Amino acid sequence: MTKYKPVKKAVFPVAGLGTRFLPATKAIPKEMLAVVDRPLIQYAVDEAREAGIEQMIFVTGRGKTAIVEHFDMAYELETTMKERGKDLSVLNATRATPGDIITVRQQVPMGLGHAIWCARAIVGDEPFAIFLPDELMIAYPGGTGCMKQMVEAYSEVGGNLISVLEVPREDVSSYGVIAPGRAVSETLTEVTGLVEKPPVEEAPSNLIVSGRYILQPEVMRVLEGQEKGAGGEIQLTDAMARMIGTQPFHAATFAGRRFDCGGKTGFVEATLALALERDDIGDEVRAMAERLLGRC
Ligand code: G1P
Repeated sequence: MTKYKPVKKAVFPVAGLGTRFLPATKAIPKEMLAVVDRPLIQYAVDEAREAGIEQMIFVTGRGKTAIVEHFDMAYELETTMKERGKDLSVLNATRATPGDIITVRQQVPMGLGHAIWCARAIVGDEPFAIFLPDELMIAYPGGTGCMKQMVEAYSEVGGNLISVLEVPREDVSSYGVIAPGRAVSETLTEVTGLVEKPPVEEAPSNLIVSGRYILQPEVMRVLEGQEKGAGGEIQLTDAMARMIGTQPFHAATFAGRRFDCGGKTGFVEATLALALERDDIGDEVRAMAERLLGRC
């Protein structure tokens, strides 16, 4: 039994406009884009459930209702499938336990920090997780997901915990970057500083914040008075930076794979990588890829 309050709630900021995927995302949320046959949001929710998280809080906006529909019953579809003798198990993970999906609205896109703050009343006084669904975290075969690994680390160190990964130094300016402190173990390190989208020459390391967080509820109070930061937006990274020194702050490296599905190349890479691993289509996809590359 851990001495820390368990993490039962997760916030998914999904109000973004998805302009990098236009025109695909004109009428559907980017979080509904499918990698093979599962939308990005479902990978994130599945990862949360695996980690023991029960309540999913979506911070949504206009035009994003498809996300909520995805986790609802689809009577017409299910009835028709039943009548035709089709297997409904494919829909299992999309059926939420009643009351477990909650939405709040972020009326104006003012940044990630602001999106998280919009969920303050539902988060209440508990530690909570954050998932950025653009960041697709896939466990190694037989391994556990990113958030489950974080929850395990959290039960040792408590406080605030973020997932980090190494990127080539020239890429750091697209991300939040940590200043690493003392190493607690091979995969866990203290965080002594955090900066959002620094110029390459000012970055404290090449370890970036990779879209999974376990934070203490006090961050909501910090966000309350948070000034605009990088890109003129209210940044979660800035609020977290102000918590260093007041509460334990650690970074965990995920033993698994990460695909940056916020951009086209990463999205295509994820699609190909996961398709190649599938029992049902993997062999065909491999043959197709080799043909396309002119290897046979
Ligand atoms: C956000 C965070 C950043 C993090 C990144 C991960 O940035 O602000 O700290 O490294 O996600 O993808 P965004 O991609 O929303 O600009």
